[in-house]
Amino acid sequence: MRKPVIAGNWKMYKLLGEAVETALALKPLAANANHCEVIIAPVFVHLKTLADRLEGSNIKVAAQNCASETSFGAQTGEISAEMLKDVGASHVIIGHSERRQFYGESDESVNKKTKAALAFSLTAVVCVGEILAERESGNAESVVKRQIVGALGGLTVTDMERIIIAYEPVWAIGTGKVAAPEQAQEMHGFIRGVIAETHGGEIAEATRILYGGSVKPDNIAGLMKQTDIDGALVGGASLEAESFAQIINYK
Ligand code: 13P
Repeated sequence: MRKPVIAGNWKMYKLLGEAVETALALKPLAANANHCEVIIAPVFVHLKTLADRLEGSNIKVAAQNCASETSFGAQTGEISAEMLKDVGASHVIIGHSERRQFYGESDESVNKKTKAALAFSLTAVVCVGEILAERESGNAESVVKRQIVGALGGLTVTDMERIIIAYEPVWAIGTGKVAAPEQAQEMHGFIRGVIAETHGGEIAEATRILYGGSVKPDNIAGLMKQTDIDGALVGGASLEAESFAQIINYK
């Protein structure tokens, strides 16, 4: 049985005070959510504070990126997976489409960063998803397959226990245009098939595949009814404790 994951990606939003306020407001609202794992991903500089303030709660803290290098070194502006672990992160989002689009992330860097995360026992939330032109030209599946195969290259069966996939069609991110549940299911089923090819059927069955892109309180239940949708990576609607709590408590 795959335990659902509801993760909030706070992107580059909130100053520290507001981040703490939202996290503390979320704590009681998420306290009875035993049916899923709850994660929030604030900006790097808020990780330590939020991890401390949420200690003992059922809310875990994720980073939104990490360096591909694993050892200390002359890498101005980078933050290693070890440093994230050290300040209390348990998860790290890797290869978000905004990083692929605006910061030159490639399948190769996503693979390196995923391995760096695993080296320090973080769980990697690896993001994939096609842009609108790729969907319209009928290439969505081939793009997503390339991203999955690229991200998971060289990972062992044991490594896969600490991998979560997030399928985020780029055309659905921040647009209010959520993928239809059946449309998302089709891609999730396809992704599971790709993982079965790369790592075997058992691993594919155990891997959580989250959907992301305009998830809101009023569409989460329909998405979660799909067999291969194991949770959500939520942007905008995770910024307020009340709306994020409604998504967490979709049942
Ligand atoms: P929205 O929920 O705002 O569409 O963002 C999705 C996303 O990018 C989560 O990583």
